[in-house]
Amino acid sequence: MNGTPPLAWDEDLECWVVADPRLARQVLNHPGFTSGTFERSFHLYMTEAAREEYRELTAFLRLWFVQADAPEHTALRRPVQRMMSASYVRSLAPRVEEITDACLDALAASAPHDVVPAVADGISGAVMAHVVGVDEPPEVLHRWARTLSLFIGAMYRRDHAREAHRAMTEMTEALSRATAPASFPRQTPEDRARTTATWAMNLFGGLETTSSLLASTVMDVLGEPAVWDAVRERRSGAAEAFVERTLRRRPPLRHLGRVVAYDQELAGARMREGDLVLVSLTGEGLLEDPAAGPAAGPAAGCPVTGAAPRDDGSEQHLVFGFGPHYCVGAPLARLEAAVLLRRFAARFPDARLADEAAVWGPNLSYVGLDRLHVDLGV
Ligand code: HEM
Repeated sequence: MNGTPPLAWDEDLECWVVADPRLARQVLNHPGFTSGTFERSFHLYMTEAAREEYRELTAFLRLWFVQADAPEHTALRRPVQRMMSASYVRSLAPRVEEITDACLDALAASAPHDVVPAVADGISGAVMAHVVGVDEPPEVLHRWARTLSLFIGAMYRRDHAREAHRAMTEMTEALSRATAPASFPRQTPEDRARTTATWAMNLFGGLETTSSLLASTVMDVLGEPAVWDAVRERRSGAAEAFVERTLRRRPPLRHLGRVVAYDQELAGARMREGDLVLVSLTGEGLLEDPAAGPAAGPAAGCPVTGAAPRDDGSEQHLVFGFGPHYCVGAPLARLEAAVLLRRFAARFPDARLADEAAVWGPNLSYVGLDRLHVDLGV
């Protein structure tokens, strides 16, 4: 933990920061901490006039079930979780492979060879378009997701609100024609709004995070000759184990927000109802340099042989969250990254990172590469 206090009040951000993983699990699985951070942030960071002007946008975001608590959350999550079952994700493998091969073609045809738009955005966007059943290309889906995350990260900015409102309108229109939401309730205007919000959230959830994982996986594997050899030789489990280590080393999401539901004491600190809490998913508090991911540590397991970690299962890291809101797309993200590693190694066995290959994006909560140039060695 590098001397980071387990729980501290951050004067600049005016919120609690939970750095200790055990405490983080407690907060993420405790009814005393609610998920409704958007609602709290609308009131803290938007003026009344902005809330009025963008009330369609705030109403849309309020309906995302990641913002709800039990029992409402449990009921809304159930059908999505059922859809994203392990057998469904396994059945997607051939489609993910086709999409990956098409994106690797696009990478080969582009100059310079930038992994981020062609491969990381390309695969995550096309896979989510397939899962949700929309026709829009990856760049459009990623523009929507980036626009919404800019607003979520800085709600006081009117320009972000305006752009996010436009993205919401376009998403809503696309989702009205999408196939996956068609089997969800649509009888009343309330049903339709809820169904659109649920699928917008699902789409959003699978884009920036997964793109970040895909680009980081390629960057890191090209810097580790032993692992690269193992993946090229198709050693069993090597790709999956390396993906797991990349998740730990470069978590796409560094924190989750929660709101204190009632006055209480936690680890000796007196917390007040309505206080915002930032829960670190990295055990390291607030990292200031996106390039400096948390250390993978010995618990990451052997990336070459695929041997299990010594004292900690892969499910125990917090990268996909913990408790009732645990990521419904975790198996899909893992599948996309492992397929990419295998297909990339088979197609470009002599690939290398280009000079000054990587440029990190500026966002400190959603961490991802803006650019990753590679030399494909062909
Ligand atoms: C590497 C990629 C991914 C990472 C790091 C990630 C991370 C997370 C985290 C940390 C949460 C917990 C949020 C909370 O507790 O407030 C979460 C929830 C969620 N994720 Fe992911 N995610 C990824 C990929 C995906 C994909 C591919 C999908 C869609 C297929 C997805 C859909 C969702 C949804 C719908 C939730 C809300 C679950 C709930 O509230 O019950 N995610 N994700």
